[in-house]
Amino acid sequence: MSLWFEDYLIKNFGAALMGADFTRMTFTPFVIPNVFVSTNMFPDRPGVAPDAIDYIVTYSRPEKRRLFIVTDEYSARFCNKITRAFEQRYQFKTQVWKGAMPEAPLDSIQECVGLVNRFEPDLIMAVGGGSVIDTSKIVWLLYERPDMQDFTSTINPIFPVGIRKKAHLIAVPTTSGTGSECTPTSVVTDTETNRKIPINHQELIPDYALLDPTLPVAMPPKLTAGTGMDVLAHAVDAVLCPAANDLTDAIGLRAIQMVFKYLPRAYCDGKDREARYRMHLASSMAGMVLSQAGSGISHAMGHAFGGVFHVHHGVTVGLFLPYEIQAYTYVSDKYLEICDALDVRVKDDRKSLANLTDKIRALMKDVNIPLSIKEAGVSRQEFEEKLDKMADYAAADPTGVIPPPYLLTVDQFKKLYRLAYTGIDLDLGSEF
Ligand SMILES: [Fe+2]
Repeated sequence: MSLWFEDYLIKNFGAALMGADFTRMTFTPFVIPNVFVSTNMFPDRPGVAPDAIDYIVTYSRPEKRRLFIVTDEYSARFCNKITRAFEQRYQFKTQVWKGAMPEAPLDSIQECVGLVNRFEPDLIMAVGGGSVIDTSKIVWLLYERPDMQDFTSTINPIFPVGIRKKAHLIAVPTTSGTGSECTPTSVVTDTETNRKIPINHQELIPDYALLDPTLPVAMPPKLTAGTGMDVLAHAVDAVLCPAANDLTDAIGLRAIQMVFKYLPRAYCDGKDREARYRMHLASSMAGMVLSQAGSGISHAMGHAFGGVFHVHHGVTVGLFLPYEIQAYTYVSDKYLEICDALDVRVKDDRKSLANLTDKIRALMKDVNIPLSIKEAGVSRQEFEEKLDKMADYAAADPTGVIPPPYLLTVDQFKKLYRLAYTGIDLDLGSEF
C-alpha cells in the first residue's frame, strides 16, 4: 500500500500550493498549542492564580474526568505528581501506560490504542520525549477515528479528519529537542520496512504544551546533545524554507542563537538551570516555526539514514545540516540572515557560508556529535549496500510537503550522502 505523501495530487499540487507565495500571502496560518511555562507545573493544590490545570479543565470541559497518560519507562517517574494533581484537585480517574517505544513503532501504538478505547478518556496526555508525543498523537487519532487504521496511506493534510470529539491532547515534553509538543507531525516507524513515516496534519497539533524546564534536567549529556542538534536543525530548516515569513524568522533566528549559547552549557552541566530552561523554550520555538514554515533536507536525509541505521534522530539531522545549507545556496542566500544572527557574516558571501558551517561543526564537536557518517560508526561496506535505499527514501520524504527551496533528485541525495560519509564539503564551484 502506498503512503499518503506518495499520492500524485498531494505531491504535485497540494504540497506546492501550501508553500506557494500566492497562498502564503493570502492565508498564512500560525497555529500553536496553548503554551504554559512553569517550574512548578503540577501543584497538588490550587495557587493564588489559575494555573495550567485549571485552564485545561475550564476550557476543555472534560466531563468524564478521565485522564490517560502515554509515557515510557524513563518518563514514568514524572507521572505520579501529575496524576496526583488531577485526582486531588479535580477528582479525575487516571491511567498511565508506560509502553511507548523509541521511534514510535506502529505495533506499540496499536497496543496503546486498545487500552485507550477501553478507558475512554476525555484528556490524553503525553509525558516524554518526541517518540512518546508522536505515539500519543497517533493513539489519539485512532481513538477518535477508529475507521482510519490505514492512516499512513489515507490521511490527507489538506482535508479535515475531525478529531477532538472525544478528547483533547496535552503534551508535556521531558526532553528539549523534537518540539513535537508544538507541531502537527508524528514520525512513526514501520518495523517491517525499517522506514520512518512522517504523518502531518494540522489537527494533530496538541491543544496544550506544558513546558516544565525541571523535567529535562535529568537528561544525560548524550541525549542533551542529540536533542539539542534537533532543535538547531528545526530552526535552520524553517528559516531556509520559502514559506518562512517575518513572524517565523523572528522566532527561528532567536532559537538558533539560544542553541549556540545554551546547548554547550546544558551538555557540560545538566544541572545548569538557566541553560536547561532556555533549551526547553528553544525546542518549542523551533517546533513552532518548523510546523509553520516547513522542514528541509537535513530531515529528509536524517529520516532515511536514521531509519536504515538506527542512529538517534538529532545526531542524523545535525550531520546533514551543513549539506542542507550548502545545497540551498544554489537557489537562495537566506543563510546570510543566519550568519547575521550568529555574527559570522563578512563581506564575502562564500566566506560567510564557510564561517557558518564551521560554527555548526564546532558546536557538534563541543557536544561530541559525530561529524561524518563514518564517525557515526557505519562501515563503508554497509553504507554502500544501503546507499540506494537511503537516497530513494530521502527523495520521497514528505519534508517536501511544505516545499523546501527546491526538491533534490535521488542522484543529488546520493552525492550528498557520499560527501557526508567522510565529512567533505560540497564543492560549490561545480555543477550540483
Ligand atoms: Fe527533527
